[in-house]
Amino acid sequence: MTKTYALIGDPIDHSFSPALHNAAFLFLGLDCTYIAYRIPKGELESGVESLKKINISGFNVTIPHKVDMMKFLNEIDSECKLVGATNTVINNEGHLKGYNTDVDGFLAPIKKRKIDSKDSDVLLIGAGGAARAIIVGFSKEKVRKITIANRTRERTEELIRFVHNLGLESDYLDLQAAGDVANKYKFVVNATSVGLKGVGCPISTKNINRDSIVYDIVYVPVETPLIEQSKNQGATIIYGWEMLLAQAMKSFEIWTNKQAPYEAMKLTLLGRF
Ligand SMILES: NC(=O)c1ccc[n+]([C@@H]2O[C@H](COP(=O)([O-])OP(=O)(O)OC[C@H]3O[C@@H](n4cnc5c(N)ncnc54)[C@H](OP(=O)(O)O)[C@@H]3O)[C@@H](O)[C@H]2O)c1
Repeated sequence: MTKTYALIGDPIDHSFSPALHNAAFLFLGLDCTYIAYRIPKGELESGVESLKKINISGFNVTIPHKVDMMKFLNEIDSECKLVGATNTVINNEGHLKGYNTDVDGFLAPIKKRKIDSKDSDVLLIGAGGAARAIIVGFSKEKVRKITIANRTRERTEELIRFVHNLGLESDYLDLQAAGDVANKYKFVVNATSVGLKGVGCPISTKNINRDSIVYDIVYVPVETPLIEQSKNQGATIIYGWEMLLAQAMKSFEIWTNKQAPYEAMKLTLLGRF
């Protein structure tokens, strides 16, 4: 019988996930399909019940449900528990187990380039949901320090405690100061939504240089203003689409127990930009 997978969230109209997963199913000849299912905020419980009724095999979770979905899980993978949010759920006859593939999805492009993160200093711009998964990822790689730069300072305080509890150093910078000292960090990571649709750059790139590794998790457009400017300054660039692809591959592997077809998924993703 055909297995059905889904993406739940709101909005979901422009998601790349259905194309990515359906391409992978087709490439491997699996009798599976992936649909986008819009569940508005406040309707998650009934939405999840509907998914169980159709015996969904698994689903991805996106904004605004990544944190709230934790309440409806029967089992939670340890890394997912640490992040406090899930983006991937597997359904085994009504038993829902949650994972967070953003953690390893974020790390994959760094590892692919064989960049050693151990003992390095990270400038993390942004303090939302994605930032938390990135912190868990960098803590796995035993970085030394994560400085958090964010527009709203209050939002960073809990996050700084979170980094400390993981055994790493952490402090706060405002966005202006972050631009002034960006050259002191091995990694500069944008985890804000600034740069989306090519609008805005989260910090000044005047001090980004050849030694900087600039990772922008925003993936529309492929070349955000941060990436474009940092490239001009000679920095090593890691693109948001690489994380998007890697987290999707991890979800696919959790659901199917098969290696995700990298080239087929990459071609599908890049073809959509
Ligand atoms: N590549 C991938 O696979 C991947 C995965 C996950 C997320 N993402 C992308 O990452 C971005 C963040 O996602 P999220 O889930 O963490 O979102 P979120 O929880 O809503 O957090 C948004 C962050 O952006 C900041 N921000 C928003 N507008 C800003 C502005 N005009 N100026 C300065 N800062 C601003 C917020 O700062 P305040 O605290 O001051 O509001 C906050 O730090 C999104 O664009 C998302 O698409 C990509």
